[in-house]
Amino acid sequence: MKRLLIVDDDDAIRLSLATAFKDTFETREASGGRDAIDILGEWLPDVVLLDQRMFDMDGLETLSHIKDIDPDIPVVMITAYGTISDAVKAMKQGATDYIQKPYDIEEVRIIVNRAATIGAMKREIKELKGEMNMFGMVGASEAMKDVFETIEEFAPTDINILITGPTGVGKEMAARAIHHKSLRREGVFVPINLAAIPESLMESELFGYDKGAFTGASTSKAGKVELGDKGTLFLDEIGDMGKTLQAKLLRFLETRVVERLGSTRYRPVDVRIISATNQDLSNAVDTGAFREDLFYRLNTVYINIPPLKERLVDISILTDHFISIYNQRFKKDIQDVSKEVMDRFLSYPWRGNVRELMHTIEFGVAKCKQSLISLSDLPPQMLSSQQTVNGESAMVEEVKQLERQMIQNALITTDSNRTKAAELLGISLRSLQYKLKKYNMV
Ligand SMILES: Nc1ncnc2c1ncn2[C@@H]1O[C@H](COP(=O)(O)OP(=O)(O)OP(=O)(O)O)[C@@H](O)[C@H]1O
Ligand SMILES: [Mg+2]
Repeated sequence: MKRLLIVDDDDAIRLSLATAFKDTFETREASGGRDAIDILGEWLPDVVLLDQRMFDMDGLETLSHIKDIDPDIPVVMITAYGTISDAVKAMKQGATDYIQKPYDIEEVRIIVNRAATIGAMKREIKELKGEMNMFGMVGASEAMKDVFETIEEFAPTDINILITGPTGVGKEMAARAIHHKSLRREGVFVPINLAAIPESLMESELFGYDKGAFTGASTSKAGKVELGDKGTLFLDEIGDMGKTLQAKLLRFLETRVVERLGSTRYRPVDVRIISATNQDLSNAVDTGAFREDLFYRLNTVYINIPPLKERLVDISILTDHFISIYNQRFKKDIQDVSKEVMDRFLSYPWRGNVRELMHTIEFGVAKCKQSLISLSDLPPQMLSSQQTVNGESAMVEEVKQLERQMIQNALITTDSNRTKAAELLGISLRSLQYKLKKYNMV
């Protein structure tokens, strides 16, 4: 059954919509934007019906969160009567369609069904490719599957988690997903980048200070640890922490009370700690640069995200994901990268990992004037790379097979009407024609 998520803070409207669709859709209901995002963390719908005016999170803001999680989910906005500018804003921000209040339920049915057909087709393709999505963090590799499973298992506990991996692999994204899936999701997520703070300021930054604690401390200030009360503290680049601060952090973890600099008061703080590093901390423990006792406390559960070049499957999934994101941002309709580009991607070292791939696609989508990103659309540094072009990977071949299959199904369903088939597939007619030619299906 196709899936529908209804987001409205008006209980009566939500109920009437849910009743109208209960026989034709698997429906879920959210009473606000936050609620909707919680649901998207474990269940991706084929279409979202979203009220534009809600008290907790405005509809447009909710729309942009939904698009960050999965840019391909169609969102139909419900706007108030006479506010055509609301509808225009929604469409500009990527809504698929809109319905004005007071609406006729038959009209809603038609619009929702149409959007859901496209949404379901896209979800099916992603499922066939094995794509997983956790609050916008996507992947299909075994390594990412392990990451997602560990997050599922330990997010709801209060256990400290250490995330390791080179730059740009998604450590912070994983930390945010853990927070969203934890019982502290209503609390704050406080990131602290320890590499960005001079050693001399770290203690006051983390634990705060009282008035007069040092020259210049003209007022009292709570530290980040205190701000994180009832929430999650994300200690980024933990390997850059000096020995003095390591001792203070360990003391905090043992006592769970904060002592501001220059203060004699103890303040209890209830915080969950996720830390991250791109260094080899166990090595730092061996050399004595990092305290072993602190290491074991932070490392109760350990998540390692491998470099992108070791997850070739994810390159293809992430490429599609970022193309969708930047298509919406730049109002473009790019379908894919060319075969040559994918070959280059699969053999490129990706030292900046997912972040580098994301920027590469951003650049490519912005520059590309056709429906396919070609080598000449890539940033110059990628073209000068000395990589040899390898043979096509088995995965790419498999993905192509799936795509062929989907196109064939769409053509059968629509009696070979290409316009309808393209609509069903959620792609433009031009790109369907292109794909038919590419796969020798004409
Ligand atoms: N699996 C993924 N799916 C979608 N986007 C991702 C994924 N992994 C990373 N990104 C994106 O890549 C960028 C870098 O991710 P993030 O900041 O989490 O990396 P990091 O490991 O913390 O990097 P650094 O070590 O440099 O701080 C972000 O914009 C993030 O949204
Ligand atoms: Mg980071």
